Amino acid sequence: MAKAPGAPLGPVPFADVEADSGLVSGVPEQLPEEHADPDDLVSALPSAPRPKGLSSLRLYDGFWLPEWSVPVAVALQRRFEPRPDDVVVASFPKCGTTWVNALTFATMARRAHPAAGAGHPLLRLNPHQCVPFLEALFGSRRGEARLAALPSPRLMNTHMPLAMMPGGGGCKVVYVCREPKDMVVSLWHFHRRLHPELPLADVFEAVCGGAVGYGPVWDHIAGYWSASAARPDGVLFLRYEELLRDPAGHVRELARFVGLPFSGAEEDAGVVHDIVNLCSFGHLKTLEANKTGHMNAGLPIPRDALFRKGVAGDWVNHMTPEMARRLDDIVADKLHAAGLTFLHARE
Ligand code: A3P
Repeated sequence: MAKAPGAPLGPVPFADVEADSGLVSGVPEQLPEEHADPDDLVSALPSAPRPKGLSSLRLYDGFWLPEWSVPVAVALQRRFEPRPDDVVVASFPKCGTTWVNALTFATMARRAHPAAGAGHPLLRLNPHQCVPFLEALFGSRRGEARLAALPSPRLMNTHMPLAMMPGGGGCKVVYVCREPKDMVVSLWHFHRRLHPELPLADVFEAVCGGAVGYGPVWDHIAGYWSASAARPDGVLFLRYEELLRDPAGHVRELARFVGLPFSGAEEDAGVVHDIVNLCSFGHLKTLEANKTGHMNAGLPIPRDALFRKGVAGDWVNHMTPEMARRLDDIVADKLHAAGLTFLHARE
């Protein structure tokens, strides 16, 4: 896309973009047609029994989506029009979304916002405030207009399976997956912030049965995995555990993937390490923007719940060997055909 001289370059910190800027001021805050009568759309779909307190799920296009996000999925399928230089960070919940949002934003925006700079947006904003969530934007006409008004290259985030983003083939996707037992433990801790009595067994059974938000998890992973094999230039498949082992190597890979490789001068100046340090768990966790406030009005979970422990293998402190074996076997069986395996820390 040709840019007017002086036009802002993306990605811009999304929270800094005024909702009622001139570009979207004429767009009313009205619900898109998919939301106009959600009962028609949603009530015909199969539902799943849920652990007490957790939001209802509906089976749409082979995935268990939170009820509120079914109309969003339809809107995305109908109207998401990616630009070739768009980047979408995609993930199953609790698999490292916040971290990869931060790393991708810091990498792509490094010319406007040097990672070591005292005024970096990630020092005052939660990573989710820098990178817009597609599900939230496709919930209103004004949200869609805000997305359309963003300067290129845009950086966005989603938990939707690839099937809900047919337009995803027209942009770059950075997918992060995590060892499923650690995902379960992280998800359980997250839900417990609102439902302290929720037993781990309830979350575990839901995941094993496939009926968990955006699940089955194996189908979510397999969709992006297959796409990354078919289109390695279009889908970058990252693993949380590998990121922990070698964050600098993966930031270099990320930069190459989004078409912004580090120059020799940037390497000499330590820019890669500045990005890794800025986005490290130990650093982000200490920032006021991540210690206070809530994720959003619809999800009143404190932001600090996004930064719990940040390690691999914590499942061992919560699951019995039998639970671990059962989930490992289900995942191995379901992902066998895709040729994808996880290293099991118990072996
Ligand atoms: P734990 O609950 O195991 O600690 P998501 O961002 O997809 O919701 O994932 C949350 C998980 O990522 C949490 O895992 C959280 O602690 C971890 N996490 C968040 N920021 C991180 C970072 N900068 N580095 C490593 N892990 C991080």
